[in-house]
Amino acid sequence: MSSSEDQISQRVPQHVAIIMDGNGRWAKAQGLSRLEGHKQGAKRLRDVIRWARDAGVKQVSLYGFSTENWKRPKLEVQGLMALIATMLSLETPKMMEEGARLLALGDISSLPWLVRKALKRAMNTTKGNTSVDVILCLNYGGQQEIIEGIKNFCSTFNTDAEKENALLKLTPESFTTCLNREDILPVDLLIRTGGEKRISNFHLWDAAYAELYFTDTNWPAYSESDLKAALDDYVSRERRFGKTSEQVQGDADE
Ligand code: IPE
Ligand code: IPE
Ligand code: MG
Repeated sequence: MSSSEDQISQRVPQHVAIIMDGNGRWAKAQGLSRLEGHKQGAKRLRDVIRWARDAGVKQVSLYGFSTENWKRPKLEVQGLMALIATMLSLETPKMMEEGARLLALGDISSLPWLVRKALKRAMNTTKGNTSVDVILCLNYGGQQEIIEGIKNFCSTFNTDAEKENALLKLTPESFTTCLNREDILPVDLLIRTGGEKRISNFHLWDAAYAELYFTDTNWPAYSESDLKAALDDYVSRERRFGKTSEQVQGDADE
């Protein structure tokens, strides 16, 4: 990679994860139902994917439904599931146009059949695309994902001696391979819309060193300038990964 390419790649986050929050509050402010807020929010998806891709982002994770969201009123959960299934079918041709590959994170097995079917079809149709990965996080919980990883790790050994030996050698890199996914990069930039300043069980493992960005804009009102502001802010951050500023700037001895 040339030094100018290197500089550019450092300025664009490879993996942007978005907590798409504020649909309900946006709807309330407009005198609309919460479900209408979710519908308007879902319409933002195709633009955000295109804007991110055009900016050079390689992966976009979208928090669509958390493991905690099952606690919402039954009608809202049903409405959300129906919306997710519909959007997946509607957006697949658009993702083909954009060269976007759909991936999923979360416990898909307990989603309604309609959602699983639409998800599998969309993932299968888009699997050869290479411009940008769209990682839809459904029934996703960061803690649950780590627990599943521990279970996967433990299930591969026949004897206690084997397990102890593997435990001694366990590193964050090797543990990542125990998580139920492939091809997911570390999160560089984590954006939350809707004004709350919390992570809500999103990408706990992958966002270990993510830059965090919070905006008051509610998700249905999210615009290209909002994303640009987040990407510009990211450029101004110094990612030190434990080192000193001087080391990062290259002014100090290793
Ligand atoms: C985010 O918007 C969408 C989902 C959680 C599915 P909310 O529905 O949480 O909106 P607020 O936070 O109530 O405004
Ligand atoms: C997080 O938003 C989940 C999604 C955006 C899908 P919530 O609105 O559910 O988060 P909390 O519960 O207020 O933290
Ligand atoms: Mg919310």
